[in-house]
Amino acid sequence: MLDSFLREAAPWWDAFYADRTRDIPFFVDAPDENLRNYCETGMIRPSRVLELGCGPGRNAIYLAQQGCHMDAVDLSREAIDWAIERAHAVAVPINFQCANLFDVNFESQHYDFIYDSGCFHHIAPHRRMDFVELIKNALQPGGYFGLTCFAHGEGYGAEISDWEVYRQKSLKGGLAYTENKLRQIFADFEVVEFRRMNRIVQPAVSFGESFLWTVLFRLK
Ligand SMILES: C[S@@+](CC[C@H](N)C(=O)[O-])C[C@H]1O[C@@H](n2cnc3c(N)ncnc32)[C@H](O)[C@@H]1O
Repeated sequence: MLDSFLREAAPWWDAFYADRTRDIPFFVDAPDENLRNYCETGMIRPSRVLELGCGPGRNAIYLAQQGCHMDAVDLSREAIDWAIERAHAVAVPINFQCANLFDVNFESQHYDFIYDSGCFHHIAPHRRMDFVELIKNALQPGGYFGLTCFAHGEGYGAEISDWEVYRQKSLKGGLAYTENKLRQIFADFEVVEFRRMNRIVQPAVSFGESFLWTVLFRLK
């Protein structure tokens, strides 16, 4: 019932991705700077990886190039088609799936790393705990979860209460989170690293915007 308060997500995202020439920061074909850092410094050594809300695939492709077995899910057909084209262009195998992540039956304790860059802040408040449970269930014990999302107080992302989401029937382009709120929501995880993303001027080998949090969690 609460889902029906909010607009249907897939058609909106399909329209969002229809014009690939738009000046959208994350349309660049480069992985998140924090993700590259986790891998290059050995903070994580991922092998079986899931990306939630992969969009046009830039992070999934980077992880596949590092030798990971990649599953990547997004509800937008336009995004998945673009991601498949990008993956073919660099000849990396990725199992892309066009689906709402809440409709997918992820295998229990299958992944050692799950990554989300910019999807969680589009998840409605009533779905948050399902989102956390899904990750807890799909991760191996001691597995890692990497997240980037809008930081509160930066002017990007909606700084509205959960109540307001339903009153206005909108997530207003994605919700901004405080550090405290993220720590509460992901209380079943230990925090390995919690920081602002470094802004990276494009073109570059990695992507970064300072209005985003980047957090690396480890399942307790
Ligand atoms: C801000 S975009 C980020 C895309 C990509 N991670 C990147 O950084 O390039 C958020 C993505 O999450 C996807 N998304 C939002 N809700 C979703 C859901 N319930 N299931 C699957 N994908 C979802 C959208 O379709 C969109 O592609």
